[in-house]
Amino acid sequence: MRLALIGYGNVGKAFARLLAEQRSRFPFRIAGIHTARHGSAFDQRGLPLEPQFGPAVTPIAEFLGRARPDVVIEITPLEPATGEPAISHIRAAFEQHKHVVTANKGPIAHAYSALRQDAERAGVQFRFESTVMDGAPVYNMVRNNLPGVKVLGFTGVLNSTSKVVIAAMREGRTMEEGVEEARQMGITETDASFDIEGWDSAAKTAALANVLMQANVTPLEVDRRGIGRLTPDKLQMLLEKRKTVCLVSRARQTRSGVHLRVRAEVLAETDLLACVPGTSNLLLLHTDLMGTVGTISISPGVSQTAYGIFSDLVDISKTL
Ligand SMILES: NC(=O)c1ccc[n+]([C@@H]2O[C@H](COP(=O)([O-])OP(=O)(O)OC[C@H]3O[C@@H](n4cnc5c(N)ncnc54)[C@H](OP(=O)(O)O)[C@@H]3O)[C@@H](O)[C@H]2O)c1
Repeated sequence: MRLALIGYGNVGKAFARLLAEQRSRFPFRIAGIHTARHGSAFDQRGLPLEPQFGPAVTPIAEFLGRARPDVVIEITPLEPATGEPAISHIRAAFEQHKHVVTANKGPIAHAYSALRQDAERAGVQFRFESTVMDGAPVYNMVRNNLPGVKVLGFTGVLNSTSKVVIAAMREGRTMEEGVEEARQMGITETDASFDIEGWDSAAKTAALANVLMQANVTPLEVDRRGIGRLTPDKLQMLLEKRKTVCLVSRARQTRSGVHLRVRAEVLAETDLLACVPGTSNLLLLHTDLMGTVGTISISPGVSQTAYGIFSDLVDISKTL
């Protein structure tokens, strides 16, 4: 199976390493990579981990024409206000009847319903497991394991960077030091203010609501407040009371529609939402037939994001 990657940063490189490790079992090869500043690279036999980039081949349709992939992997940075240019990249792939896998939550948060219809018309698959909780099953859990269930709402701690930053400030370090620690781990958004101001969480919240609750919203409709006003002093005062803060996403179905909220909430250290350590994420789905059921990912990093993309590809490869 030939792949074209749009974006080759932390996630793209972790994904390429995973492919190299798994090549004997899964003969997937990267035939083309396109980036913003490094240019484009092509090799139908499969590109190495450190490819030689030539000039950027644009527009994206031309890049895809040269790479001739079976599947396009969209992993450019999140743009929370519009979801672009990723939405256009994905549409260009569908126009050429290519399957698409993305880890970029922007397109799912802004245009899920339209993109799903475009994919159906093109007769291709559109998969995005790693957009929320990396490789932990979220969409797949509902699709494969909860048939007939209606999701009425959800509660989640979905942003790892804010957890690393809050943990640092609880130890008396600054917010900037916490962000730098998360950046070193490769888990921040390209613009880390999107993590701190709650945009990443808002995009994940909108994406989950669009896919699991047919909400048809964008991140702009999420009632959002991030952790930007927290200080080490405030967190240390809470620590004395055995409390902490988590950036919590909440969704609930109301008579007037789906209500979505992202807030830095004060929680007891023993609260289920607060007691998963490090970068760990947790999502609880509130359903009609199965009560509350959830998924936890302990200390995920960029390798787990790579696995989320890989899991979508393994599924697609079964249909080719
Ligand atoms: N990092 C994580 O833990 C994680 C987890 C889940 C989901 N994600 C999502 O995965 C995506 C990628 O994240 P990342 O950490 O890999 O980001 P990153 O390290 O900042 O890399 C972004 C890549 O996209 C390229 N790029 C930027 N604008 C582009 C454009 N207009 N056209 C083509 N390429 C473009 C960049 O090119 P240059 O190399 O030339 O700058 C770079 O290669 C994001 O949407 C993020 O939200 C990340």
